[in-house]
Amino acid sequence: MTEDAPNRSPAGIVGGATLEEKAGLTSGLNFWFTKPLTRLGIPSIMLTDGPHGVRKQSEGGDHLGLADSIPATCFPPAVALGCSFDAALLERVGVALGSEARAEQVGVLLGPGINIKRSPLCGRNFEYLSEDPLLAGILGTALVRGIQSQGVGASLKHFAANNQETDRMRVSADVDPRPLREIYLRAFQRVVEDARPWTVMCSYNRINGVYSSQNPWLLTGVLRGEWGFDGLVVSDWGAVADRVAAVAAGLDLEMPSSGGRTDQEIVDAVRSGALDETVLDTAAARVVDLVGRVASRADADATYNADDHHALAREAAAASVVLLQNERALLPLPLDVDVALIGELARTPRYQGAGSSRINPTRIDTPLDEINALASGNVAFAAGYLLDGTADDALRTAAVDAAAGAEVAVLFLGLPSELESEGFDRPDLELPSEQRRLLDDVVAANPDTVVVLSNGGVVRVSGFAHKVPGIVEGFLLGQAGGGALADVLFGIVNPSGRLAETIPVRLEDTQSFTNFPGEHGHVRYGEGLFVGYRGFDARRQDVSFPFGHGLSYTTFEYGAAAVTAGDDLAVTVTVTNIGDRAGSEVVQVYVSLPSSAVSRAPRELKGFAKVFLEPGESREVRIAVRRSDLAYWDPRVDAWVVEGGLYTVEVGASSRDIRVTATAEVAGDAVNVPLTLESSIGEVLANPAAAEALSTIFVASGDRQAPALDPAVLAMAASMPIGRILSFGDFGIGEDEIQRLLDAANG
Ligand code: BGC
Repeated sequence: MTEDAPNRSPAGIVGGATLEEKAGLTSGLNFWFTKPLTRLGIPSIMLTDGPHGVRKQSEGGDHLGLADSIPATCFPPAVALGCSFDAALLERVGVALGSEARAEQVGVLLGPGINIKRSPLCGRNFEYLSEDPLLAGILGTALVRGIQSQGVGASLKHFAANNQETDRMRVSADVDPRPLREIYLRAFQRVVEDARPWTVMCSYNRINGVYSSQNPWLLTGVLRGEWGFDGLVVSDWGAVADRVAAVAAGLDLEMPSSGGRTDQEIVDAVRSGALDETVLDTAAARVVDLVGRVASRADADATYNADDHHALAREAAAASVVLLQNERALLPLPLDVDVALIGELARTPRYQGAGSSRINPTRIDTPLDEINALASGNVAFAAGYLLDGTADDALRTAAVDAAAGAEVAVLFLGLPSELESEGFDRPDLELPSEQRRLLDDVVAANPDTVVVLSNGGVVRVSGFAHKVPGIVEGFLLGQAGGGALADVLFGIVNPSGRLAETIPVRLEDTQSFTNFPGEHGHVRYGEGLFVGYRGFDARRQDVSFPFGHGLSYTTFEYGAAAVTAGDDLAVTVTVTNIGDRAGSEVVQVYVSLPSSAVSRAPRELKGFAKVFLEPGESREVRIAVRRSDLAYWDPRVDAWVVEGGLYTVEVGASSRDIRVTATAEVAGDAVNVPLTLESSIGEVLANPAAAEALSTIFVASGDRQAPALDPAVLAMAASMPIGRILSFGDFGIGEDEIQRLLDAANG
């Protein structure tokens, strides 16, 4: 079929379909395919995971990752890619993902996942980019653009507020309007508006009591009405509780197949009048439109170069590694170092998470092999521990001996896959106790120890960070991660990853701690806006490593920052590489409004740029901050509002390493909140016309109420609803008169 032939428009095609055919088109054929409608020339297309590789299962299918899939490049999962802070790199990864999907005749790749990391315990944090919505939004946009440039649809997921795995198919995320908009929906909004994904996948959970799959406010009002989404909404696999309600709410495609059961429900609902047939027509037309987009771009002869993609996976992994700590400049290691590599994870790397995103890699580079390939000195290996966590004294003793006999010990620690996965959350942030014990013994034998971490969600490092000079956080680095780690350890690549999430001192410090994972089907997002660094900064809590942190083997110096306020803010700062190695700096722009009338975090990331500088090189870095990113969500008017005032613009190397500060005066949006008898005196006084009317009331009341005009009294009464003044005496004015004055002020 062709996409644009006028007589073959999606609506035209659907016009020729029977009710049963339309109901059929809007649910899956089987686990991964849509239903064909051969009579009308509609082929079936394949949707498949996603997000960091193509998980095309040859036969049957299961979303738990148990059945095998065809080999594909396993790029670094989102947890690592988020730390690259590099949109251009993510777009290239997206292009590679799209080209592999295309070569495998996959029409839609189920990703990226851009949910906010609300708690470090979420078992699926490895699939998500950040605790910050701007970072997740910009990087998600890049991935979608890359994937779709290859004629393959992306599926932005999981829409929305899917921030835990516990009870994920039922739990209601109970979130107030501001955090919902400013934290949990903001990244989705950005990607939808900037990258126009072909599909959005609704999440399993409920939001404020309503399943995402059958939430008209979410799927139609916000997504289409406010953001202009013109693609298809697909359910997460099995997320539909009530198909009729879901279609009515704006769900277009139920996946996987319900075996015809829910198709019949749709047919019955249309026949009984419970579902408007035109709503079904719209959903069916969107399916036809998607199939058209895919089919018109499909290429049976498409191929990709697995070696090139492996090289890109290595580059992306190396750009994502975060050097947390490097005392005494122990790293990079000289190539001829005499090194002990310790830890089973050096030989059997953990490079991706478990569940629906599990990719069957085209190959795997282990740190052990890759370090051996680069090093010219002696490399001794000792496993040190068993991945299943059982204690093994002999392994530990051999590891300690190896450490004692080497110049430097590089200790690979991390979470075995059993401890974190899609489907469940972690109970704590701890490394396995056997690994912690090994660390103590190795450091005692050789103080020059560098810890290399492999983990999908953050682990607590406060128990050992003070004991070792070096910590390299790899998170999960994909199939080429072993080479990337070798490159960073030996300085072939200068590390440039920055933390996309805070590493807390203790789990108990995290803002969601007392509200995670909820109970009895509800989880209360009680921390509100104060997620991640927003909360740690508001409470001035110590953290082990802050959001945005990451070291380099060189040093960057910042000049003064200048801000030009136009419609957007243009922030410029000169950054100089004053070290003797080339490297990349991630220049971060945080914004705040100290005079704000509403609750706000002390600083919020509003822009960033990754710049590569040769030794001695200076560059003027220009970062645009969109006016829309300065807005907060005002629930009084259900709209984004930019408050006027003097904004503080902080430019730095992390959220806690601010190098230069500037200010910018920003004109505010007019907010028209109609005054009522329930409006407070303070709110009335803030409206010039109403303030004048109010003073008229007081003056009319004569001397008796004159003290009420006293500023001190007014300040005390500022929070009293205006209608309530009548309870405090005779002002010579009735409720009707006050209402009339307010109406006049409302205009
Ligand atoms: C996951 C989705 C995934 C789908 C298909 C679901 O369980 O939540 O992320 O795309 O399965 O495997």
